[in-house]
Amino acid sequence: MDFSIILKTVGSLVMISGALSIIISIAEKVLNNYGTCELDINNGKKMLSVQGGSSLLSTLAGEKIFLPSACGGKATCGLCKVQVLEGAGPLLPTEEPYLTPQERASNTRLSCQIKVKNSMKLVIPEELFNIREFVCTVESITDMTYDIKRLRMKLPEGETISFKAGQFMQFYTKPYGKVKEEVFRAYSISSKSSEHDYVELLIRLVPGGLCTTYVHTVLKEGDQVRLSGPYGDFYLRGDCEELIMIAGGSGLAPIRSLVYEVIEKGLPHKMRFFFGANKMKDLYYMDEFARIEKDYPQFRFIPCLAFPDEGDNWTGDTGFVTVALDNQVDTGDNKEAYLCGSPGMLDACIKILKTKGFTDETIFYDKF
Ligand SMILES: Cc1cc2nc3c(=O)[nH]c(=O)nc-3n(C[C@H](O)[C@H](O)[C@H](O)COP(=O)(O)OP(=O)(O)OC[C@H]3O[C@@H](n4cnc5c(N)ncnc54)[C@H](O)[C@@H]3O)c2cc1C
Ligand code: FES
Repeated sequence: MDFSIILKTVGSLVMISGALSIIISIAEKVLNNYGTCELDINNGKKMLSVQGGSSLLSTLAGEKIFLPSACGGKATCGLCKVQVLEGAGPLLPTEEPYLTPQERASNTRLSCQIKVKNSMKLVIPEELFNIREFVCTVESITDMTYDIKRLRMKLPEGETISFKAGQFMQFYTKPYGKVKEEVFRAYSISSKSSEHDYVELLIRLVPGGLCTTYVHTVLKEGDQVRLSGPYGDFYLRGDCEELIMIAGGSGLAPIRSLVYEVIEKGLPHKMRFFFGANKMKDLYYMDEFARIEKDYPQFRFIPCLAFPDEGDNWTGDTGFVTVALDNQVDTGDNKEAYLCGSPGMLDACIKILKTKGFTDETIFYDKF
């Protein structure tokens, strides 16, 4: 074929695709231009005029109203629920798995999935208005294990945070490398609830994970980071004599905060903390929990190693944490259980707890 014909054909294709992308971007702008929409929150208590076109979750965040979210709007955590009485449109397939029949009947929706396209009537629980945004300074980054880092962050001068031990924060990354947009993920607070000017998080590296790769490879001491919170209903109820605490990996974070809350408030509860890990290299905060055990006889720390190496000289409990739990907790009477860790480990532990008489009302957990 003549070279000039090839050139002309390629040129025409480039022009056509250029024209098409301009038409698509104009069409997107026209189609997504929903103009100004009114948000009526809690029956007229708060009225907002917002630009339509974004998700309800991010529109509210733009107005400094923060709904819980752990997946950054990917419809995989189900935390961003909100009641939308009017203006949400039909239920989307991405929302369905997360909504119970009762929630559907009360017009509960996933705020990350529905777009603000017209005026809406919302019901937002009052406590969510206390959630604030903080621009913190990373004071230290400490390796706790080969894949878990502790971030200690100082709140801006003069600002303080109040949270219940067990609650979590949302951590926002900055664009880095090939990741062109900020992402945000949930991290349980590991520091003491009595500490109001610092927040500590324990972040385990998920290979290929957007947020944890940022924390483990990009973030430096002295950097500024954005956090919002506190969120969540994983906190101490304490209507019992003994607390059974169970964690694996970075799930230790909220349990550490809970243990200190009980101690610092002088609460009478006995506590047993079962910490499941594979090998010695996965254990951390061992000296600290040993010290607490020595100082406070009401607290017992039971680390369990599933696969200790011979050279580890491990003398503690061996096997999965479920084995220790089954052997050492006889009944759920007058006890509450607080669990945090991977879904597999938590499901196995909850199954055992139920055989001991624990119920949905006495078991509390955050799975991640
Ligand atoms: C209430 C709550 C509290 C949390 N607290 C903590 C905490 O204290 N410390 C902590 O380290 N994490 C915590 N998480 C998990 C955290 O929010 C992120 O999901 C996690 O850090 C992965 O984020 P990422 O952006 O790096 O990975 P993503 O980019 O979101 O995921 C990358 C890939 O890894 C998979 N993946 C995501 N999470 C995990 C995981 N945990 N294990 C294995 N594979 C995974 C995804 O399916 C995806 O395929 C918490 C989650 C919730 C819901
Ligand atoms: S933010 Fe996770 S499902 Fe909406």
